[in-house]
Amino acid sequence: MLQLAQNINKLGTESAFEVLARAEALSEQGQDIINLGIGQPDFRTPEHIVEAGIKALRDGHHGYTPAPGILSLREAVAKEIFNSRGVEVNPNHLVCVPGGKVTMFFSILMFGEPGVDIMYPNPGFPIYESVIKYSGANAIPIPQSESKDFSFDAEELLSLITPRTRLIILNTPNNPTGGAVTRLELEKLVDGLEKHPNIAILSDEIYSKITYDGQEHISLLEFESLRNRLILLDGWSKTYAMTGWRLGYALWPEQLVDHATRLAINCHSCVNAATQFAGIAALEGPQDSVVNMVNSFNERRSIIVDGLNRIPGFSCRMPKGAFYAFPNISQTGLKAQEIQDILLEKAGVATVAGTSFGILGEGYIRFSYANSVENIQKALQRVRNTLE
Ligand SMILES: Cc1ncc(COP(=O)(O)O)c(C=O)c1O
Repeated sequence: MLQLAQNINKLGTESAFEVLARAEALSEQGQDIINLGIGQPDFRTPEHIVEAGIKALRDGHHGYTPAPGILSLREAVAKEIFNSRGVEVNPNHLVCVPGGKVTMFFSILMFGEPGVDIMYPNPGFPIYESVIKYSGANAIPIPQSESKDFSFDAEELLSLITPRTRLIILNTPNNPTGGAVTRLELEKLVDGLEKHPNIAILSDEIYSKITYDGQEHISLLEFESLRNRLILLDGWSKTYAMTGWRLGYALWPEQLVDHATRLAINCHSCVNAATQFAGIAALEGPQDSVVNMVNSFNERRSIIVDGLNRIPGFSCRMPKGAFYAFPNISQTGLKAQEIQDILLEKAGVATVAGTSFGILGEGYIRFSYANSVENIQKALQRVRNTLE
């Protein structure tokens, strides 16, 4: 019998990958599956970015790079942060990593251990809770409730802080709810956090460029009082349809940069060199593909929300960001997992049960609208026919 470390059994998973595997298995058996389960843009990476990656390979960028990323990439990120968030940052405080998830993992490992509280959004991206538990820390949910338009309540959040709290994770725009926090709520939170100067904040802003109705993304970086303890997570995966390239970045407070770099050296050495050049092209090249992609998501957003609201027992708020609709399905009388299974097996529509995003996701189901209008309409029809 192999003797595994105890913590390995505490790791959770991301069910969207399991749904994807099941949907693919059904497709291989000849079933026509529409995948609204997946959390990635259905667009190709823009051509000039792909070309930059190919060119880097042809130019011989085949070796290791500095662990935090080549300087020109970090300079491009610093410029992007200035343009998007109006804050000048030092490229030496940036660590580029293979995807947004890596920053999450590193941040939680830096603070998590038994006896410590780490707060995270629930429903929320499942990896937060998984890695918090893996670290041995207590995972304290921050409710993202429908009554708050899927944002958090700053007062409630602050009331959950204990002397054991070391790290608070926030995510706006949010996966899976599509919610986005308001400036007022953030201001209330930041005011309250001033009384807790020893708590670090991880702000997951991976969907920062995917917002709607002219609403600007509000970054926690704007708040000066948090700067010396804020970890800002963002990346290329969603904005540039680059999920498979594996590229993300974090801005670390000065006191944590060395720890993050050491974790990178211990874990992956550096991001694939050619991908880093593609990342520069993405940031410095034309941004029209991002605008077009968000416009397409916007059109699909109205169609899917309208369609979901016509399904008996469903009620769906209009998402403010990302590309997920998160209808309340409690009036159907079915559990989230039951609906996910029925929709996949009977309707041929892959979705993800709200409970895959935490216990507070019961009563909800996540539909990704990163799919064509035609497929979304077909899927809505199938869901209606199956549940009526
Ligand atoms: C909220 C959130 N953060 C981070 C990630 C991870 O992104 P990446 O693919 O860059 O690791 C995702 C991916 O779905 C996400 O939804």
